[in-house]
Amino acid sequence: MPAKIDMAKFAKFCKDTGFIFQSSEIYGGINGFWDYGPLGVELKKNIKDAWWTDMVRNPPPGPDGQEIRMVGLDCSIIMNPNVWVASGHVGGFSDPMVDCKESKKRYRADQLEVLVGTAGEKTLYFAFAANDEEGQKAAGKKAKKAGAKLSDKPVSLMSLTDLPSTLPNVVGPDVDEPGTLTEPRAFNLMFESHAGPIQTEENKVYLRPETAQGIFVNYRNVLNSTRLKLPFGIAQVGKAFRNEINPRNFTFRSREFEQMEIEFFCHPNESRKWYEYWRDLRRKWYSTLGIQSDNLRPREQGADELAHYSVGTTDIEYLFPFSDEPQELEGVAHRGDFDLKAHAAKSGKVDDLAYFDEELWNNDSQKLSTRSFKEWLKSNPPAEEIAKYKFVPHVIEPSAGADRFTLAVLTEAYHEDKVPDAKGNVEERIVMRFHPRLAPIKCAIFPLVNKDGMPELATKLYRELKPHFNVFYDDKGAVGRRYRRQDEIGTPFCITIDGDTAKDGTVTIRDRDTLQQKRIKVEDVKAEVLKAISPA
Ligand code: GAP
Repeated sequence: MPAKIDMAKFAKFCKDTGFIFQSSEIYGGINGFWDYGPLGVELKKNIKDAWWTDMVRNPPPGPDGQEIRMVGLDCSIIMNPNVWVASGHVGGFSDPMVDCKESKKRYRADQLEVLVGTAGEKTLYFAFAANDEEGQKAAGKKAKKAGAKLSDKPVSLMSLTDLPSTLPNVVGPDVDEPGTLTEPRAFNLMFESHAGPIQTEENKVYLRPETAQGIFVNYRNVLNSTRLKLPFGIAQVGKAFRNEINPRNFTFRSREFEQMEIEFFCHPNESRKWYEYWRDLRRKWYSTLGIQSDNLRPREQGADELAHYSVGTTDIEYLFPFSDEPQELEGVAHRGDFDLKAHAAKSGKVDDLAYFDEELWNNDSQKLSTRSFKEWLKSNPPAEEIAKYKFVPHVIEPSAGADRFTLAVLTEAYHEDKVPDAKGNVEERIVMRFHPRLAPIKCAIFPLVNKDGMPELATKLYRELKPHFNVFYDDKGAVGRRYRRQDEIGTPFCITIDGDTAKDGTVTIRDRDTLQQKRIKVEDVKAEVLKAISPA
């Protein structure tokens, strides 16, 4: 289990070092929105680039050793609103929520728990946000004040029988008297806007709540323009927006975030094989980028949790240091033919959203009286015969959150430890143990002193390395202090140009984690760093 981190202290560290800032902070911020600073933007970009390289450009061979065919898309954020009607988001993308008439706060009803207490004849319920230890303590104090005797364990608000008649006895999380919470009602999480100058119902549009639907509605365009054959995948990285009722845990649940999604289209008979391929591949990917296996908890949904069309769904969960329970980083879902069929029904483009196995047809039709599929259909062949050639593919969807993974990488990397300084005295340091591939800055160049030709040699090396990866030049202060500054932002290598460099053409390279220093030739620095930051 990762060491618990004080999240307020951690958020301050992220701000001070330039990883993450509160959005529009000078105006008091805005709940659920975050900005990435100079280091954060590099870190998140490295994460998205690693995903694109490993999943789209160079995915490992498939279950039978075959090459995986993947292409990318970059769709608009605002789409025809019918997309969201067909996908079910207009009708069903909602959470149950309650308002507090007194505090004016809004809560997700399914994320509230209550302590149940009896005071004389009366049963009272003291509500708090699930997993909020302080909130639970406050609820307990209110119960004590009201003279209520508590039963053992908290229960979820939604599990209370006959909620409408029970609510008058519920004390909300931020008030002292019962009866201020409204009945739960559905709240659609999509942000709305209007396209064009007139704000009418007809002009209403939505900011996409996921990138996936852009892929489904472009399925035919991709097939026609690439002539891909099943199985193949379409990937997209981009912003998504959800008007979350309760944004929390730093960037974990935000209202604006980025997703990295794949829709992998395959023959229905092969969907289990591909589901297992993606589930295992995605789980492994996090470990190759430095997330300790112990902190990763892939959770396969039970048969009773699965959608009717699905043979499996796995949530890849991570034990964030702010929670006792693992939390979702990514969902790998078998979505069957649900989405393509939904868009076929809504758009009427049934043919466009199906797949025709031309190769199989060309092969088999040699034995038939006609080589034309359309002609053959006129002979009313049985449906299962037609489905051999023309069918709606099944889809496996690995859907990851770029911001969630960035937060996981930041918390996993964060370490406070003690190291000896130049004089052998032990001093405390914060070190970000990023995987070198993800580290925002790959190496720092230090001239030992600003004289004797050292700055010139250091600048020369800096300029040689800069086109290849992110390098930082630092000539301010003692070398020990410069090391600390780089440790704190997770730079894996520090290169020092000293008096010997001019004589023998060598530099010292210091490893952030082992603290070991070795001398290498100046012309070998690039290869040494590239080796560490290249995909495994
Ligand atoms: N297309 C499927 C889909 O969107 P999801 O489980 O709702 O599935 C996928 O979202 C991933 O997107 C999540 O596993 C998470 O990493 C990220 N995500 C979802 N809501 C988020 C939020 N409010 N803030 C940050 N990341 C979020």
